[in-house]
Amino acid sequence: MSNNVRPETMERITTAALAEAFIAEQCAALKAQIGSKKVLLALSGGVDSSVVAALLIKAVGKQLTCVHVNHGLLRKGEPEQVIDVFRNQMDANLVYVDAVDRFLDKLAGVADPETKRKIIGAEFIRVFEEEARKLEGIDFLAQGTIYPDILESGPVKAHHNVGGLPEDLQFELVEPLKFLFKDEVRVVGKALGLPDNMVYRQPFPGPGLGVRCLGAITRDRLEALREADAILREEFEIAGLAGKVWQYFTVVPDFKSTGVRDNKRSFDWPVIIRAVNTRDAMTAVIEEIPYPVLHKITARITAEVPGVNRVLYDLTPKPSGTIEWE
Ligand code: XMP
Repeated sequence: MSNNVRPETMERITTAALAEAFIAEQCAALKAQIGSKKVLLALSGGVDSSVVAALLIKAVGKQLTCVHVNHGLLRKGEPEQVIDVFRNQMDANLVYVDAVDRFLDKLAGVADPETKRKIIGAEFIRVFEEEARKLEGIDFLAQGTIYPDILESGPVKAHHNVGGLPEDLQFELVEPLKFLFKDEVRVVGKALGLPDNMVYRQPFPGPGLGVRCLGAITRDRLEALREADAILREEFEIAGLAGKVWQYFTVVPDFKSTGVRDNKRSFDWPVIIRAVNTRDAMTAVIEEIPYPVLHKITARITAEVPGVNRVLYDLTPKPSGTIEWE
């Protein structure tokens, strides 16, 4: 049997008890594989890398070094939460890399979506490589590969896959979640004590807010996007929509329109809301957000986010639109 086929006998992990059994089994396997050697993990704070980190902390503790690269394109509060959960609460070895200026400088003036993606991906590998070189005696690279990544059944890219490292940095891989489906990863994460807002997090693309700050990214527009996204997420939580809608986010295009504020004309950006439901991200339908929720979000975003004077709701299913705008 290939090493990449989920064993037929493997029971679907649906309960805390089954998760505990998986965790015990994996900890033993990880200890056997790693021994007294050292492991490196790129920890984005997404579900998969967070669960791998928590499992490895349980299995090998400080033999794991997590590297969290803040590329400036994460959602509000995410880098802080990674530091709080993994360094403060789980006492992990965590290297926090503030690479915000580096990424934003590289992206300045770049408007083409695929070029933006390439720059973000390549720069991420470069930063991770630099951090890896600073560490001594690493033998293993842990990755949050999950079964759908192996099956390649969907268009959701495995953004946690730190492929592309140079030859002399080819470590042996540690992939404890590679036979798990997403729902199972969440059950395991919950059993490992990770916070709900990490475990039940909606999908977030590797290039992050970079593909939602349309065209050439500017710092002020990126900040407006991050604030608007935080308001949207907060209001979805309050309205009980957070667990019901598969993916919801804001987009800020690179054009302005006229408005009026404090009896003066304004010339500011619009914020576009996108909220979709899907099974596999190949097609998607629009969530019918209640009007009172839309009104409240609109009022808050236009009042609280500098540089924004309009809020629009994208009613386009996939097809004809993609889920992201870039
Ligand atoms: P689209 O926009 O193609 O998105 O309908 C389908 C799903 O994939 C996510 N997505 C990405 N994920 N890197 C990622 O890791 C990317 O470059 C990327 N582009 C889109 C998107 O958020 C949605 O869940």
